[in-house]
Amino acid sequence: MDFSVLNGYYGVLMEGTKYTILVSLVSLVVGFVLGLLICLMKMSNFKVLKLLSSAYVQILRGTPLFVQVFIIYFGLPQIGIDFPDIGPISSKFIAGAFALSINSSAYIAEIFRSGIQSVDKGQMEASRSLGLGYTDTMRFVIVPQAVKNVLPALANEFITLVKESSVLSVIGTQEIMFKAGIVVTAVYSPMEPYVAAAVIYLVLTTILSKLVGILEKKLAKSN
Ligand code: ARG
Repeated sequence: MDFSVLNGYYGVLMEGTKYTILVSLVSLVVGFVLGLLICLMKMSNFKVLKLLSSAYVQILRGTPLFVQVFIIYFGLPQIGIDFPDIGPISSKFIAGAFALSINSSAYIAEIFRSGIQSVDKGQMEASRSLGLGYTDTMRFVIVPQAVKNVLPALANEFITLVKESSVLSVIGTQEIMFKAGIVVTAVYSPMEPYVAAAVIYLVLTTILSKLVGILEKKLAKSN
């Protein structure tokens, strides 16, 4: 291995890192909103909503992200659903972010559900017996405690997204693995660029998991 072959290509890898972080962040935020919606549907008393949201979660968690990315990027245009370029944002980025977002939303919905269910039943009973309605109890008693319980899990989901976004290289989203592939063809040597990619992922996930650790300690103290 001779890492000097990478001289002059670190900028390309850094550009990829930028897009990896960007697509992961977008997916976390969109996944958060969709996930909350799906979670509320799953916990509602309407049978149809329950059924639809359960199927959504089951399908997205029961099939590989890799397959979902292919269906979304190559399949959807065939039935008339195209992803446009929006200004400097390429359709490949948008399709990738879309795939990662809906995939993540299914996992986040379950994170929320377990967070809400982790709040002791006595909290609901006590609040209701003090005269608060169901919605107010949810809003002022259950959800604030649930949010605290799920913060570390959400942060872990972000770490997962950083790693899983590498799958988007198959459709040409300009993230780390895609850029590493470009460097491979430029330097005619696969080992160094892919090891460099691995190191970048490792640095990102190590920093993030350290932050999760700090967050967990802070939350434990505020109990
Ligand atoms: N590799 C798994 C898959 O292909 C992980 C999916 C992403 N996981 C997540 N928490 N968003 O299905």
